[in-house]
Amino acid sequence: MKTGIFYGSTTGATAEIARQIAKAMGVEEKDIHDVAHTSPARLADYDLIVAGTSTWGHGEVQDDWYDFLDGAEALDLSGKRIAIFGEGDETMSDTFCAGMSVLRRRLEGTGAAFTGEFPAGTYSFNTSAALLPDGNMVGLALDNVNHANLSPERIEQWVKTLG
Ligand SMILES: Cc1cc2nc3c(=O)[nH]c(=O)nc-3n(C[C@H](O)[C@H](O)[C@H](O)COP(=O)(O)O)c2cc1C
Repeated sequence: MKTGIFYGSTTGATAEIARQIAKAMGVEEKDIHDVAHTSPARLADYDLIVAGTSTWGHGEVQDDWYDFLDGAEALDLSGKRIAIFGEGDETMSDTFCAGMSVLRRRLEGTGAAFTGEFPAGTYSFNTSAALLPDGNMVGLALDNVNHANLSPERIEQWVKTLG
Protein backbone atom coordinates (compact mmCIF):
# COMPACT_ATOMS: atom_id res chain seq x y z
CA MET A 1 0.00 0.00 0.00
CA LYS A 2 1.43 3.36 -1.01
CA THR A 3 0.74 6.33 1.27
CA GLY A 4 1.04 9.99 0.34
CA ILE A 5 0.60 12.98 2.63
CA PHE A 6 -0.84 16.23 1.24
CA TYR A 7 -1.04 19.33 3.42
CA GLY A 8 -1.70 23.06 3.32
CA SER A 9 -0.04 25.29 5.90
CA THR A 10 0.25 29.06 6.32
CA THR A 11 2.67 29.47 9.22
CA GLY A 12 4.19 25.98 9.23
CA ALA A 13 2.22 24.26 12.00
CA THR A 14 0.42 21.80 9.71
CA ALA A 15 3.64 21.20 7.75
CA GLU A 16 5.33 20.16 10.98
CA ILE A 17 2.43 17.84 11.85
CA ALA A 18 2.58 16.31 8.36
CA ARG A 19 6.19 15.35 9.07
CA GLN A 20 5.31 13.91 12.48
CA ILE A 21 2.59 11.80 10.86
CA ALA A 22 4.98 10.73 8.11
CA LYS A 23 7.49 9.58 10.72
CA ALA A 24 4.83 7.66 12.63
CA MET A 25 3.68 5.96 9.39
CA GLY A 26 7.08 5.41 7.80
CA VAL A 27 6.26 7.70 4.86
CA GLU A 28 9.28 9.07 2.99
CA GLU A 29 9.95 12.77 2.42
CA LYS A 30 9.29 12.43 -1.33
CA ASP A 31 5.73 11.36 -0.51
CA ILE A 32 4.97 14.46 1.60
CA HIS A 33 3.40 17.16 -0.57
CA ASP A 34 2.65 20.82 0.14
CA VAL A 35 -0.51 21.43 -1.92
CA ALA A 36 0.76 24.92 -2.76
CA HIS A 37 3.41 23.31 -4.99
CA THR A 38 1.77 20.05 -6.07
CA SER A 39 -0.49 19.00 -8.92
CA PRO A 40 -3.76 17.40 -7.77
CA ALA A 41 -3.04 14.61 -10.26
CA ARG A 42 -0.41 13.31 -7.79
CA LEU A 43 -3.27 12.04 -5.61
CA ALA A 44 -3.69 9.20 -8.11
CA ASP A 45 -0.20 7.88 -7.21
CA TYR A 46 -1.35 6.65 -3.80
CA ASP A 47 -3.64 4.04 -2.26
CA LEU A 48 -3.96 5.90 1.06
CA ILE A 49 -4.13 9.69 0.83
CA VAL A 50 -3.52 11.53 4.11
CA ALA A 51 -4.86 15.08 3.70
CA GLY A 52 -4.22 17.82 6.24
CA THR A 53 -5.36 21.40 6.66
CA SER A 54 -5.29 24.08 9.28
CA THR A 55 -8.45 26.14 9.78
CA TRP A 56 -8.59 29.86 8.96
CA GLY A 57 -11.21 32.58 8.72
CA HIS A 58 -14.29 31.27 10.44
CA GLY A 59 -13.98 27.55 9.88
CA GLU A 60 -12.41 27.71 6.43
CA VAL A 61 -9.86 25.45 4.83
CA GLN A 62 -6.25 26.71 4.55
CA ASP A 63 -5.83 28.96 1.49
CA ASP A 64 -3.58 26.74 -0.62
CA TRP A 65 -6.21 24.03 -0.72
CA TYR A 66 -8.68 26.04 -2.82
CA ASP A 67 -6.95 25.65 -6.20
CA PHE A 68 -5.83 22.13 -5.36
CA LEU A 69 -9.39 21.07 -4.51
CA ASP A 70 -10.70 22.52 -7.78
CA GLY A 71 -8.50 20.00 -9.58
CA ALA A 72 -8.86 17.17 -7.08
CA GLU A 73 -12.62 17.01 -7.10
CA ALA A 74 -12.60 16.26 -10.84
CA LEU A 75 -10.50 13.10 -10.32
CA ASP A 76 -11.74 9.54 -10.08
CA LEU A 77 -10.17 8.22 -6.87
CA SER A 78 -12.34 5.09 -6.60
CA GLY A 79 -10.64 2.29 -4.69
CA LYS A 80 -8.47 4.71 -2.71
CA ARG A 81 -8.84 5.77 0.90
CA ILE A 82 -8.56 9.29 2.28
CA ALA A 83 -7.69 10.05 5.92
CA ILE A 84 -8.02 13.68 7.01
CA PHE A 85 -6.13 15.54 9.71
CA GLY A 86 -6.49 19.10 10.93
CA GLU A 87 -4.65 21.68 12.97
CA GLY A 88 -6.55 24.40 14.80
CA ASP A 89 -7.23 26.26 18.00
CA GLU A 90 -9.78 24.92 20.48
CA THR A 91 -10.52 28.43 21.74
CA MET A 92 -12.17 29.04 18.34
CA SER A 93 -14.86 27.02 19.97
CA ASP A 94 -17.51 26.94 17.23
CA THR A 95 -15.17 26.22 14.33
CA PHE A 96 -12.46 24.04 15.85
CA CYS A 97 -10.62 22.30 12.99
CA ALA A 98 -13.69 22.86 10.81
CA GLY A 99 -11.46 23.07 7.73
CA MET A 100 -11.35 19.27 7.82
CA SER A 101 -15.03 19.18 6.93
CA VAL A 102 -14.34 21.21 3.79
CA LEU A 103 -11.79 18.61 2.65
CA ARG A 104 -14.30 15.82 3.26
CA ARG A 105 -17.15 17.57 1.49
CA ARG A 106 -15.12 18.57 -1.54
CA LEU A 107 -13.46 15.16 -1.96
CA GLU A 108 -16.62 13.12 -1.47
CA GLY A 109 -17.40 13.05 -5.19
CA THR A 110 -14.05 11.45 -6.09
CA GLY A 111 -15.31 7.98 -5.13
CA ALA A 112 -12.60 7.49 -2.50
CA ALA A 113 -13.56 5.97 0.85
CA PHE A 114 -12.95 8.00 3.99
CA THR A 115 -11.12 6.56 6.96
CA GLY A 116 -9.50 7.88 10.13
CA GLU A 117 -12.44 9.35 12.00
CA PHE A 118 -11.29 10.19 15.52
CA PRO A 119 -13.18 10.40 18.85
CA ALA A 120 -13.90 13.99 19.93
CA GLY A 121 -14.01 13.01 23.61
CA THR A 122 -10.64 14.38 24.68
CA TYR A 123 -11.14 17.85 23.21
CA SER A 124 -12.67 20.96 24.71
CA PHE A 125 -14.74 22.98 22.25
CA ASN A 126 -18.37 23.86 21.72
CA THR A 127 -19.02 22.61 18.21
CA SER A 128 -17.47 22.19 14.79
CA ALA A 129 -18.55 21.38 11.25
CA ALA A 130 -15.94 18.60 11.49
CA LEU A 131 -17.90 16.90 14.30
CA LEU A 132 -20.07 13.99 13.13
CA PRO A 133 -23.37 13.05 14.79
CA ASP A 134 -21.75 9.88 16.21
CA GLY A 135 -19.30 11.92 18.31
CA ASN A 136 -16.30 11.43 16.06
CA MET A 137 -14.40 14.11 14.22
CA VAL A 138 -14.09 13.52 10.46
CA GLY A 139 -10.37 13.12 11.03
CA LEU A 140 -7.55 13.64 13.49
CA ALA A 141 -7.90 17.10 15.03
CA LEU A 142 -4.84 18.65 16.66
CA ASP A 143 -4.39 21.88 18.57
CA ASN A 144 -0.71 22.76 18.51
CA VAL A 145 -1.58 26.33 19.51
CA ASN A 146 -2.68 25.31 23.02
CA HIS A 147 -1.96 21.60 23.45
CA ALA A 148 1.03 20.62 21.33
CA ASN A 149 2.02 18.22 24.11
CA LEU A 150 -1.03 16.07 23.37
CA SER A 151 -0.33 15.72 19.66
CA PRO A 152 2.32 12.96 19.57
CA GLU A 153 0.08 10.54 21.46
CA ARG A 154 -2.96 11.44 19.36
CA ILE A 155 -0.93 10.89 16.18
CA GLU A 156 0.29 7.49 17.40
CA GLN A 157 -3.26 6.47 18.28
CA TRP A 158 -4.63 7.67 14.93
CA VAL A 159 -2.08 6.10 12.60
CA LYS A 160 -2.76 2.69 14.16
CA THR A 161 -6.34 2.93 12.89
CA LEU A 162 -5.30 3.59 9.29
CA GLY A 163 -4.03 0.05 8.58
C1 LIG B 1 -7.20 34.72 11.67
C2 LIG B 1 -7.19 33.31 12.19
C3 LIG B 1 -8.34 32.55 12.12
C4 LIG B 1 -8.35 31.24 12.62
N1 LIG B 1 -9.53 30.52 12.58
C5 LIG B 1 -9.56 29.28 13.14
C6 LIG B 1 -10.78 28.56 13.21
O1 LIG B 1 -11.84 28.99 12.76
N2 LIG B 1 -10.76 27.33 13.80
C7 LIG B 1 -9.61 26.77 14.32
O2 LIG B 1 -9.66 25.65 14.82
N3 LIG B 1 -8.43 27.46 14.27
C8 LIG B 1 -8.38 28.68 13.71
N4 LIG B 1 -7.21 29.40 13.68
C9 LIG B 1 -5.98 28.78 14.24
C10 LIG B 1 -5.05 28.21 13.16
O3 LIG B 1 -5.63 27.12 12.50
C11 LIG B 1 -3.75 27.80 13.85
O4 LIG B 1 -3.04 28.98 14.18
C12 LIG B 1 -2.86 26.86 13.07
O5 LIG B 1 -1.80 26.45 13.91
C13 LIG B 1 -2.29 27.44 11.79
O6 LIG B 1 -1.65 26.39 11.11
P1 LIG B 1 -0.77 26.60 9.79
O7 LIG B 1 0.40 27.43 10.16
O8 LIG B 1 -0.35 25.22 9.40
O9 LIG B 1 -1.64 27.22 8.76
C14 LIG B 1 -7.18 30.68 13.18
C15 LIG B 1 -6.01 31.47 13.24
C16 LIG B 1 -6.01 32.76 12.78
C17 LIG B 1 -4.75 33.57 12.90
